[in-house]
Amino acid sequence: MKKTWGGRFKKPTDPQVEAFTESISFDQRLAPFDIEGSLAHVQTLVKAKLLKPHEGKKLTVGLRKVKKLLDAGKLPLDSSLEDIHTAVEKALTKIVGPLGGKLHTGRSRNDQVATDFRLYLRQAVKESVQAGSHLIETLTRLSLQEKDTLMPGYTHLQRAMPVTMGHHLAAYAFMLTRDMDRFLATWDRANALPLGSGALAGTNHPFDRVLTARMLGLKSVLQNSLDAVSDRDAYVDFLSACAVTQMHLSRLSEDLILWASTEFGFIEMDDAFATGSSLMPQKKNPDVAELIRGKAGRVFANLMGLLTVLKGLPMSYNRDLQEDKHFVFDSADTVTASLKVMAGFLSNLKFHRLWMSRAADKDLTLLATDLADVLVTRGVPFRESHEIIGKVVDYCLDHGKRLQDLTDQELAKFSKYFPKATAETLSVFHSVSRKKAVGGTSPHNVAKQAAILKTEVSKIKKRSMKL
Ligand code: ARG
Repeated sequence: MKKTWGGRFKKPTDPQVEAFTESISFDQRLAPFDIEGSLAHVQTLVKAKLLKPHEGKKLTVGLRKVKKLLDAGKLPLDSSLEDIHTAVEKALTKIVGPLGGKLHTGRSRNDQVATDFRLYLRQAVKESVQAGSHLIETLTRLSLQEKDTLMPGYTHLQRAMPVTMGHHLAAYAFMLTRDMDRFLATWDRANALPLGSGALAGTNHPFDRVLTARMLGLKSVLQNSLDAVSDRDAYVDFLSACAVTQMHLSRLSEDLILWASTEFGFIEMDDAFATGSSLMPQKKNPDVAELIRGKAGRVFANLMGLLTVLKGLPMSYNRDLQEDKHFVFDSADTVTASLKVMAGFLSNLKFHRLWMSRAADKDLTLLATDLADVLVTRGVPFRESHEIIGKVVDYCLDHGKRLQDLTDQELAKFSKYFPKATAETLSVFHSVSRKKAVGGTSPHNVAKQAAILKTEVSKIKKRSMKL
């Protein structure tokens, strides 16, 4: 295939170099955006009087035909075509003849790829946010459903205080709302046009770039051509939003994996969302959650990968930048798939409510802080109370007794300030119900959190619809 840049070359490209430098095998995903950008560029050229109106029309019709070929899977994409930009231009020229050669006026593949990739980014942000919103809705629904489900809460993976399952699930929903905000903020910053920057210095032609931006639905125009063709910070932002999201999904996965173990026994995975062992017939494994956790490694690596490609690049475009797509496509696909499969996994879970509340209720000392607070309400300084209850805890562990089963006489040995019938005021249910201040685990608060989450997610969805 004749190269678009072949004029100054005396020899054909070595096949090894052709295979090594091509990007069409992966940048073909940019094809619809390349066509969209080219359609706008045709109008820019007409307005700049570089194309006659009838030429503009012919090129527009031609590009629409190229889109049809693409949709039918008939656009030639072989590696001698180098990249998707060349493939689209060649297909167009085949349809409209030599006029196709006018399309590249005032344009370089450098500002073209930067434009295509931004248009792709808009879609990737939209898809991630839509999948994320659905997961937030799922978590919110389950959090309401499990707002009264008592369980032990953990710090350091040691039992700490009772919480509700609803509270626990809502925590992840809040994390994810911030993640969605990160994705949307990425696009707010990236929402600008590179096209019209040429190879690096701008263009000699009177391009109305504001009009081009408007045609492509972009908010503004990048003001510096070197910046426009060189920088990839929008993708670093995107990959960073992906990394934080996948990190949150990975933590949720870890909780689910623990809860599904016999040791915890808090949940039962649906058969359709679990996998088996080729050797051990009894096994039911949480591979979905494990893979989400494992894929976090790749998603983090993609962020590091792009930062490493960018570090040390001189101004302006360098071919190294072609590597950006691998990272971005992979993270976008991985995060969106993880968000979707996590929603399915959660929707089909069975919660072992009785077992969870029993785990909390049977624990000898889970209510230690509640007992400390009893003395606090009687005027004992918290530090002193902490010390006293520490000794009560020790007594319970020694005697295999729960704090809530201690008699008034037993408690009186530790402090004269314990009121009568202290043990009766102690229960996992009361402990949770008393956490009424904003942010606490009481079922009433969990319901309030769910209402807030619903408002947040509808705002997020609205913002994503406008992209
Ligand atoms: N495939 C290239 C990329 O993704 C397109 C731009 C190539 N530009 C160039 N001057 N070789 O970055």
